Amino acid sequence: MLDIRQATIDDLPDITNIYNEAVLTTDATFDIDPKTVEERTSWFNAHDARHPILVAVENNTLIGWASLSKWSDRLAYADTAEISVYIKDGFRGKGTGRKLMEAVLAKGNEAGLHTILSRIVAGNSQSIKLHESLGFGHVGIMREVGRKFGRLLDVYIMQKIYLR
Ligand SMILES: CC(C)(COP(=O)(O)OP(=O)(O)OC[C@H]1O[C@@H](n2cnc3c(N)ncnc32)[C@H](O)[C@@H]1OP(=O)(O)O)[C@@H](O)C(=O)NCCC(=O)NCCS
Repeated sequence: MLDIRQATIDDLPDITNIYNEAVLTTDATFDIDPKTVEERTSWFNAHDARHPILVAVENNTLIGWASLSKWSDRLAYADTAEISVYIKDGFRGKGTGRKLMEAVLAKGNEAGLHTILSRIVAGNSQSIKLHESLGFGHVGIMREVGRKFGRLLDVYIMQKIYLR
């Protein structure tokens, strides 16, 4: 059974492992070197009730996480957040990413955020489709802003504005 719940600091090693899998094997994140749990502790601590981290747990295994992170420390951006979602290799394509995104977007809505941004590498059509189906629109494309695995990469910016 799939349980989606708020992350605790005890989840951080599993969250970091899933992130590092994506760092090393995908261009979904533009980090190139794996992160230590210590490095990710400051990321974890930068989240709060308005900026949740949720985890998906199946049969005692943490199989994915999603977060809403501050877009900027400049206060006029306070109601804007950036979404991230990562599913453990071997558990993708089974609906968990969609459920985690729905859950974390609902939390952002309850917390009174106004808009959610997402940066998605060109070619990650699964993620782009998923965002489109959850109400994200296309803002634009930043051309050739990244280089990973020897390829220059474009980044799509997508945005959801909560309707209230
Ligand atoms: C992108 C990611 C988060 C999606 O999560 P997931 O659990 O694999 O996706 P889901 O099973 O919930 O599927 C969501 C949608 O993706 C699409 N999709 C799923 N599997 C797919 C596949 N094999 N090929 C193409 N599209 C696919 C479908 O449109 C699906 O929508 P549906 O619910 O209408 O069928 C996940 O694959 C992942 O962690 N990828 C690596 C890291 C990453 O890209 N993170 C996002 C950074 S922006």
